[in-house]
Amino acid sequence: MCGIVGYQGNEEACNILIDALRRLEYRGYDSAGIAIWDNERPIRLARKQGKVNELQGAIREDDFRGRMGLAHTRWATHGVPSERNAHPHRAGDVVVVHNGIIENYLELKESLKKEGNSFQSDTDTEVIPHLVSSYIRKGNGFEEAVRLSLKRLKGSYALGIIREGENTLIAAKKESPLIVGVGDGEYMIASDAPAIINRTNRFIFLEDDDVVVVRDGTLKITDIDGTEVSRETKHVQWTGAMAEKGGYRHFMLKEIFEQPRALSDTLIGRIQEEQGEVLFEELSLPDMGKMKKIWMVACGTSYHACLIGKQIFEANLRIPVETDIASEFRYRDPILDENDLIILVSQSGETADTIAAMKEVKKKGVHTLAICNVLGSTLSRESHSVVYTHAGPEIGVASTKAFTTQIAVFFMLMLHLGKLTGALDTQDVRRHIGELKKLPHKIQTILDSHSEMEECARRNMHCKDFLYLGRGIHFPTVLEGALKLKEISYIHAEAYAAGEMKHGPIALIDENMPVVFVSPRDQTYKKTCSNMEEVITRRGKVLLFTDDNEHEMSGKVDTVFVFPETVYELQPVLDVVPLQLLAYYIANLLGTDVDQPRNLAKSVTVE
Ligand code: F6R
Repeated sequence: MCGIVGYQGNEEACNILIDALRRLEYRGYDSAGIAIWDNERPIRLARKQGKVNELQGAIREDDFRGRMGLAHTRWATHGVPSERNAHPHRAGDVVVVHNGIIENYLELKESLKKEGNSFQSDTDTEVIPHLVSSYIRKGNGFEEAVRLSLKRLKGSYALGIIREGENTLIAAKKESPLIVGVGDGEYMIASDAPAIINRTNRFIFLEDDDVVVVRDGTLKITDIDGTEVSRETKHVQWTGAMAEKGGYRHFMLKEIFEQPRALSDTLIGRIQEEQGEVLFEELSLPDMGKMKKIWMVACGTSYHACLIGKQIFEANLRIPVETDIASEFRYRDPILDENDLIILVSQSGETADTIAAMKEVKKKGVHTLAICNVLGSTLSRESHSVVYTHAGPEIGVASTKAFTTQIAVFFMLMLHLGKLTGALDTQDVRRHIGELKKLPHKIQTILDSHSEMEECARRNMHCKDFLYLGRGIHFPTVLEGALKLKEISYIHAEAYAAGEMKHGPIALIDENMPVVFVSPRDQTYKKTCSNMEEVITRRGKVLLFTDDNEHEMSGKVDTVFVFPETVYELQPVLDVVPLQLLAYYIANLLGTDVDQPRNLAKSVTVE
């Protein structure tokens, strides 16, 4: 996830773009860059690793005079955070900023290299200016060259493109957000409206395959073939204060709502439904034939994802999996075999205990595989191999989209390994990919019912303790639900495997104790119903989360929230979402500092 912005108008573009870039920094801050053009001088371009401040410090306003330009703030996906991988990217006289992922960039790069083009970065984006330049060299005009290039791209993009010598800004969108701001004597493009809300509140919300051409102060929107399309200009009532959070009150809420998009980005380029294949370009593995055990090691929310990963792997691959908390694992001298595989999971890739666990394992010569979100992080660099979750920057301290994308990665890894070992055939993988692909839409339907969770939060916000219960694959989900609640609302919450309730926690239950049950209709259903009966008998208040519209306990419980069905191993991706919302709304109603709860930090870099 990156932020892009572009300007053409009557004022100096540089400060306008830098200002907009700051409001887009929540989308990433690995590097930033800007390109400015005016009639008199060639395009000037500056790029810096780090935040927008670094970029601003590096440019002299006098050198960057001009009334048209593009700017970018990056969250690295392809190519480590560095100046040479920073946008804008340039080839010949064409300059591009991009948000999204070009899935077929390797193939395009090869063919462009054969034409004699040389590449300066490791990014997927750089193929775009090369493609456009190449079409221009073949005799096409700028606009036509862009259209021909867009037709060659697979994947997602929001693009801003300019060319030296032409007062033309071209933008295009497919599966990544992009809007046009209509100002007084000026047009802007941006990844979201708050980035430019201080200049205009009139926006055109672009659709996929729209191509925008701003030329000499006039605007034209066409489809990818050049046929004009009409798009309404809407007035939006937003304030600048909403800017950094894209209109959401907190980063955490924004990140919860981003999960459909984040999950699509996790899957993109890896699943091949037709062929029944899941591919990981970046993966290297030890000999599966000799592997006796897989270990999954992490902290906090990432550890909860490991508990789910274990169930996904064991059920399908029939290889024993051991899970461990990183801070325990590293000190207990675990019995490792040189043929084992250790999977270390971390959103940040900077968690000290997880890194220390990885170092211990490497000393023993065992293969380490990191599942990380942050590109170029310590864990991702120092492990033998890495799979990225591609969830986009997670800024709220409470982890949300990292969790659901980690589960998706575990599931995809299972499919990949299953195919390698013969545990799964093409039909199985195809069927599972079909289910995976439906998840973003299903999460969206849960998010669309968010007000039910807000209401539930209102009814329960003053309770002092919560109990969370679930069985099987839902046990890690309730651990995660309870962790979310306690860390952001400071309400005491405990999670147990539902079968354990009668071994102790049942003593806590009275009319003041909400008991959250996750109980979809699966192999755990009947037993969990009995546990609910036991709670209700003791006057406990049950909040039920299920995929069953006609759950047999519906009539007896305080609240029922129904989410969509999916296969057993993927249910946590769905059932955790209402629990995230519940925790968020309770904390928000209580007025705590949701994004930076007391005593916590986003990356725990101390042991
Ligand atoms: C909880 C939370 C933490 C992290 C933990 C590990 O909401 O965010 O429990 O999950 O500190 O962090 P990473 O995944 O960055 O290693």
